[in-house]
Amino acid sequence: MKINCTNYDINNVGEIVTLNGWVNKKRDLGGLLFIDLRDRSGIIQLVVKPESKIYEKALSLKNEYVIEVTGKVVKREKANPHLKTGEIEVEVTDLLVLNTSLDLPFELDKDNSLEDTRLKYRYLDLRRKNLQNNIITKHKIMQSTRSYLNNEGFIEIETPILCKSTPEGARDYLVPSRVNKGKFYALPQSPQIYKQLLMASGFERYYQIARCFRDEDLRADRQPEFTQIDLEMSFVNENDIMKITEGLLAKIFKDVKNIDINLPIKRMTYDEAINLYGSDKPDLRFQMTITDITDILTGSAPMFNEGIINCLVVKDGASKYSRKEIDKLTDFVKIYKASGLAFLKYDEGFTGSINKFITEEVANKLKDVLTLENNDLILIISGNKNIVKTSLGALRLKIAKDLNLISQDKYSFVWITNFPMFEYSEEEDRYIACHHPFTMPEDINTLNDKENAKAKAYDIVLNGYEIGGGSIRINEASMQQQVLESLGFTKERANESFGFLLDALKYGMPPEGGLALGLERLTMILCGTDNIRDVIAFPKTASASCLMSGAPDIVPENNLKELNIKVED
Ligand code: AMO
Repeated sequence: MKINCTNYDINNVGEIVTLNGWVNKKRDLGGLLFIDLRDRSGIIQLVVKPESKIYEKALSLKNEYVIEVTGKVVKREKANPHLKTGEIEVEVTDLLVLNTSLDLPFELDKDNSLEDTRLKYRYLDLRRKNLQNNIITKHKIMQSTRSYLNNEGFIEIETPILCKSTPEGARDYLVPSRVNKGKFYALPQSPQIYKQLLMASGFERYYQIARCFRDEDLRADRQPEFTQIDLEMSFVNENDIMKITEGLLAKIFKDVKNIDINLPIKRMTYDEAINLYGSDKPDLRFQMTITDITDILTGSAPMFNEGIINCLVVKDGASKYSRKEIDKLTDFVKIYKASGLAFLKYDEGFTGSINKFITEEVANKLKDVLTLENNDLILIISGNKNIVKTSLGALRLKIAKDLNLISQDKYSFVWITNFPMFEYSEEEDRYIACHHPFTMPEDINTLNDKENAKAKAYDIVLNGYEIGGGSIRINEASMQQQVLESLGFTKERANESFGFLLDALKYGMPPEGGLALGLERLTMILCGTDNIRDVIAFPKTASASCLMSGAPDIVPENNLKELNIKVED
């Protein structure tokens, strides 16, 4: 059986070993031939002497040839401290070429090739150490998850991939049925309804490392198919679910990174997160909160007559941002629909775009409320609350990146609680469920107050990423019906779409709730990358295609015919 190349060290000197792997690099030193042999575990140096019977064969080796060698482990004249096997090399006496290789379309040890080329040859890109490490980290997270949840009495249960399409949530991926002409399955956006039904069945604690599919616009932290660590528990409240999740995260961080995370994880309400950080996934690795200065500035200048007025104080930032750079920040906040960005610089007194409107009284109040010090920069946005908060939240992150305020080795967790029950969808011009329609409201009597009704829903946020979310579920049919109605479902449509769930709620559904962690997002953070593709073996591009296989692709006319489908141009 094959033994890893890097299993050998100075203690094995004198032993005859057989190794397998790829030629990583070959150096011909005009006599001695050195070959770096690579396998999953790393690199070991091979040396071939000119008098060796395999010298000519070794000379013909090229990068990425697959070989088997036998030889003696010897001590190196000069150790290489950068390699695990750096104190030894193997003097090769036998060489077998197991396979040859064309020149690769890009160099494995350089990061300068186009991502498209690397995605086309993904199986080669995956030979890179950093990508292999990412995939192995994900494997470790999954093993750690299984071990923790098994110990806590959870049962791993698979749920269907071919499901019923249900409205709400993102767009479904649809699969036409050949047997049932004109009918479609949907791929699951998550196992949400199934896991609730498993609670109805009495499993009490379920988990699954579940593949999910969502046809939505892709971003750096979103893929059309992704994986959730999905769990559901009966007879619990929010605290119980948070506690299990915290235990799971602590175990993952310990197993994978040997890091002890501080428990319990702090909690913040949704309203507080929006008010202070302009986001429901605040990055708490750095401070800089949003301050409401509506009372101080309203009416003081023509642009401050309507809506709220909020600001960020960039400590010691005045000298770091010239007028021109602030103009760039203004362009940036306009992406988030802000009408403009006013600024003040403080140095004993104020200068800046709105200085002429600042009376002595206002100046004193600002100094006081914002605890200003010399060289502070104040960036102010006014108007509609959503726009002000969102644009300042985005600006906060941009400034932190610009000024390097985020320490890369810090992990900052926070629970966001008391989410709204509903959110307004511009696209659909109606209120939709903020989490999902099966989430228990804080108070069923507040359903008509769409802007203010709260839900028993929570997200877990790490370093500004939403790494998971969950809720307590509605476990009673009439309440579920009421919530669906408040989302605009008629009784008939509710029955058509969710009848099987509504039925199940009538047969002794226990109180229950759960949560799902985004496995890739968690892996991204643990691997220190901000691109979700780096943690998926075979990812999709931003247009949801696979450059390697060419999926999605057209299919033969016959296949479409069988499905009763006609594609129109
Ligand atoms: P939610 O929709 O919040 O909840 O998803 C849970 C977590 O999954 C991750 N995630 C994604 N990761 C990569 N690409 C995507 N397109 C993507 N979409 C979501 C996020 C997110 O926090 N059934 C509920 C959970 C529950 O209530 O128990 C659900 O799916 O990290």
